Amino acid sequence: MKNMKSFIKSAVIKPVLGAILVAAGLGLAMSANASETAAEPKQGNWTFAGLFGTYDENQLQRGFQVFKEVCAGCHGAKLIAFRTLAEEGGPGYSEDQVKALAATFTIADPEAPDGERPGVPADRWPSPFTTQEAIDSFGIEPPDFSVLAKARSIHQPFPYWVFNYFTAYQEGGPDFIYSLLTSYEENPHGVEVPEGKYYYGYPGSALSMPPPLSDGLVDYEGDAPETVDQYAQDVAAFMMWMADPHMVERKATGFRVLIFLFLFAGFMYLVKRKLFSNVAH
Ligand code: HEC
Repeated sequence: MKNMKSFIKSAVIKPVLGAILVAAGLGLAMSANASETAAEPKQGNWTFAGLFGTYDENQLQRGFQVFKEVCAGCHGAKLIAFRTLAEEGGPGYSEDQVKALAATFTIADPEAPDGERPGVPADRWPSPFTTQEAIDSFGIEPPDFSVLAKARSIHQPFPYWVFNYFTAYQEGGPDFIYSLLTSYEENPHGVEVPEGKYYYGYPGSALSMPPPLSDGLVDYEGDAPETVDQYAQDVAAFMMWMADPHMVERKATGFRVLIFLFLFAGFMYLVKRKLFSNVAH
């Protein structure tokens, strides 16, 4: 304990600690001012957070159901092949289920006799808007979901993003989606919402997306609550998986690399001691 105290008091560490505290204080003061327009983002309780997090198969299945029954009417996922849904670590569908699902879609294929054929597991999730006319009549093309969860993040002022390095935080995408989907406001006070637009408290802007979720909209088989909050978390988790299906493997590899580097550093230290043991200094 005494050693620790003198360490903290030591001339080198003191200014560094001081600087960190001052910076943290400044950051907090700034964040208090910055959040006047947008609501505070919500952070989900994700099973895949942290160094050892993994996707929850049941949640991915529910999220997929929400995506398929609600969002897929407007949003495509053109980088995702149907067969990915049967991959290990994903929603855990069987190959037969995926085959049956793919077959319910009609895929445009110039080589097929009629230019169309039923889908197979190797096909990718088709976009609902296929022609420019369809997009024009809708007014705007809804963004593709394939990597959307990686392309968005919540804004976190200093000093939070510094802490994020240490907690391996990378759930900004699903937090963004969850916050957006649960923040639709019918009559935002003091905000002018243009005709045909819908106001979302987070990120605090009017979008062309009508609020897609409502309580009881999707029938879940299990006993997860059928609420906007639950749907939003489930579909956000699914979208995270879709954008990063190999995240769990990647984290495991990263962890093994860290252990290796740690052991290697210790080993090198011993080598150094051995080599220099006879050198006077
Ligand atoms: C009626 C069509 C429609 C449905 C259904 C729909 N969306 Fe959208 N969505 C849109 C459009 C259009 C935009 C683009 C809005 C804009 O940029 O103004 C959009 C944008 C988004 C965005 C991106 C916002 C951004 O930052 O660019 C997210 C996330 C999103 N939708 C999620 C969902 C989810 C999840 C569902 C299903 C629960 C869903 N949407 C259902 C039409 C739809």
